[in-house]
Amino acid sequence: MAILITGIGELTTNDPELGKLRNAALVLDGDTVAWVGPAAQAPDADERVDVEGRAVLPGWVDSHTHLVFAGDRTAEFEARMAGQAYAAGGIAVTVEATRAASDDQLLANLCRHVEEATAQGTTCLETKTGYGLTVADEARSARIAATVADEVTFLGAHLVPPGADAESYVDLVCGKMLDAVAPHVRWADVFCETGAFDEAQSARVLKAAAQRGLGLRVHGNQLGEGPGVQLAVELDAASVDHCTYLSDADVEALASSSTVATVLPACDLSTRHPLAPARRLLDAGATVAVASNANPGSSYTTSMAFCVTTAVLQMRMTIDEAVWSATAGGAQALRRGDVGYLRPGARADVHVLAAPSTTHLAYRPGVPLTHAVWRKGVRMR
Ligand code: NIG
Repeated sequence: MAILITGIGELTTNDPELGKLRNAALVLDGDTVAWVGPAAQAPDADERVDVEGRAVLPGWVDSHTHLVFAGDRTAEFEARMAGQAYAAGGIAVTVEATRAASDDQLLANLCRHVEEATAQGTTCLETKTGYGLTVADEARSARIAATVADEVTFLGAHLVPPGADAESYVDLVCGKMLDAVAPHVRWADVFCETGAFDEAQSARVLKAAAQRGLGLRVHGNQLGEGPGVQLAVELDAASVDHCTYLSDADVEALASSSTVATVLPACDLSTRHPLAPARRLLDAGATVAVASNANPGSSYTTSMAFCVTTAVLQMRMTIDEAVWSATAGGAQALRRGDVGYLRPGARADVHVLAAPSTTHLAYRPGVPLTHAVWRKGVRMR
């Protein structure tokens, strides 16, 4: 069935040739965008929806979340707001709760958060394992994630489980754990950071995953400068995420590579770290994605709009840059060209704002601006 969405005041296509259109329309045919152009030239369709001058953009592509979890870390957040520092070790609290939860509880929790994200305009979402940290628990997380998320990442190397020996744990991650999760995941990731995995351990995990045919991602340079960015670039990871503390050499390496620098503004704020230097990265020529990092510890939000608002107001990205980074940039971080764009052939993932332009995302901070959402051509809101 074809749906004509017309009366679009401002249409962000992210397509370099189509650009941003005024008084536009688009046609969705099943799960695909069939036509984009001026409203006056729109073809007929089975159903017609007039959005009365509102802005339309591709659905958000949230390329970094950790949503297979149970439990709550409110107390840790309160302690942080009272001055305590964020540390990788907090992950262990969620690991304990996740291991204790049933499959049904984990699935229900994941679905609740994905629905929350969708209602705010997210139409493509990556999520990770990483709160299981045993072969059985990581495999279970991967299997559950694959039933709901668009993209699934294996993050067995999130933390050395309390009491385990780091080198033996890395052996397990690179061997039996990788074997068990591989059927359910497209990506592998490692938390390359003081308190998690060092450079050699991280490289071992990434190389083992690449040998299994998985794409690579890295959590790097979150809590201080370190080897994460350089390792990600060297191994042609699709993305290095966090990028809060970057040396000039890191920025140069990202600018001359195809590794996307994914910034996570809600996490920087929630952990009371400085905001990642997105402006510096963009000015150097790096590709930047913006993502939510939704997780119970360091960034408990599914709101991509909040991340875009922060990227504009506090990280000095322009509106167009921030919107691109949260849509096409996220797609690039997942090495996908079918989402993050509104052009013929793209997935029919459409976000209609309750506003005449994307500028309102920053101009009206904190105001819920999602009016309607289609995902794969199906109206979600
Ligand atoms: O991306 N940095 C590592 N992992 C998550 C945090 C997970 C947690 O604290 O539970 C992150 O911020």
